[in-house]
Amino acid sequence: MSQLETKPFTPLNLDQLPNNTVFDTLLINVNIATMADTNSFGIINNGSLGIIDGIIAYIGEVNSQYPAKETVNANGQWILPGLIDCHTHLIYGGNRANEFEMRLNGATYEEIAKAGGGIISSVTATRDASPQELFDSASKRLECLIEEGVTTIEIKSGYGLDLETELKMLRVANKLREEFPIRVIPTFLGAHALPPEYQDNSDGYIDLVCDEMIPVIANEKLATSVDVFCENIGFSYEQTEKVFRAAKAHGLKVKLHAEQLSDQSGAALVAQYNGLSADHLEYLSQASIEQMAKAGTVATLLPGAFYFLRETKLPPIQALRDAGVPIAIATDHNPGTSPCLSIILMMNMACTLFKMTPLESLQGVTINAAKALGLDKEIGSIEIGKKAELVLWDIEHPNQLSYQFGTSFKNEALT
Ligand code: NIG
Ligand code: FE
Repeated sequence: MSQLETKPFTPLNLDQLPNNTVFDTLLINVNIATMADTNSFGIINNGSLGIIDGIIAYIGEVNSQYPAKETVNANGQWILPGLIDCHTHLIYGGNRANEFEMRLNGATYEEIAKAGGGIISSVTATRDASPQELFDSASKRLECLIEEGVTTIEIKSGYGLDLETELKMLRVANKLREEFPIRVIPTFLGAHALPPEYQDNSDGYIDLVCDEMIPVIANEKLATSVDVFCENIGFSYEQTEKVFRAAKAHGLKVKLHAEQLSDQSGAALVAQYNGLSADHLEYLSQASIEQMAKAGTVATLLPGAFYFLRETKLPPIQALRDAGVPIAIATDHNPGTSPCLSIILMMNMACTLFKMTPLESLQGVTINAAKALGLDKEIGSIEIGKKAELVLWDIEHPNQLSYQFGTSFKNEALT
């Protein structure tokens, strides 16, 4: 059964284990960073952790009294929640190395987009690619993230901009879920850019997204949420709202590419629709921050795009902290603004570029990224009753993941 069809997850109450308990797996001599508190890594040194049926059933400072089918001696390694990359555009044809060079020679991202390059050049290559070609190229990228300890990934469509190619992309995302040991969460991003067929008729394209694409995608259960690029080179506030209304009418959740290049009040809009997250946010206003805080909408920051576009305006991190808005961090992997396949590097950049702390950056790729996907009851922290989607790391402390960069860390997923 595909994960999109599973019933909503209900955490088990395993506080009281029966006397005849036998764990499937018991980890011993393990350092645990639970990520279950807001103010700390939730460290338990030299503890143990028991798993039954893929669920965390025991977390303790001393070894449990119960037997296990398999006991793993971690020899002082660290167990952490599996990392979550909550914003990617992993599936596309071609690449845009040529545009990188154009930008180095002075062209801006907006200029390249307006001249028909940018997202549209990836649309042409994606329309031309077969499902197998898209699957093969995305598989190689996915493997890089899995090797880095990523156990959940969100993947957006948005390089099709016609029903056929959007469906092709979402089906590839669903096939990746079937073929790889990773939780894949597909998002429909039909309103990513205006396709050439609708030049001068952006309202007509939004009608297509709302009236034809969303109903089919919801009906075929190909995505769980809908995203829009709300921007002066993307879609307006009003058009975004129209897409959100259609999404909600079909039982899909919403999220938004908001305030990346200018302030469009998109973050306030997505919050008003109880959105999961508002992403990018360099140009976010105080008024929108307050709306996000009220709605519980996560701020997903994307240091890779910030870096690669050589942006200088920082997202308002201190104001987000002050308002209590949870902050997630993601790769935003895409061929135009963030061709990066390292969530660990994003953790470092969140610290160096955004002055987040190593604790905040790890929260950003675990519990807060789970919130950004609406999955925080299920994954994102080590708590009894949550899914045992965990990774064992050969490190000395979890802050090392943010500190050391340009290197990989030995790890092993226990999913
Ligand atoms: O998240 N801003 C819009 N979408 C992507 C870029 C897509 C592209 O340039 O291909 C982003 O930055
Ligand atoms: Fe993006």
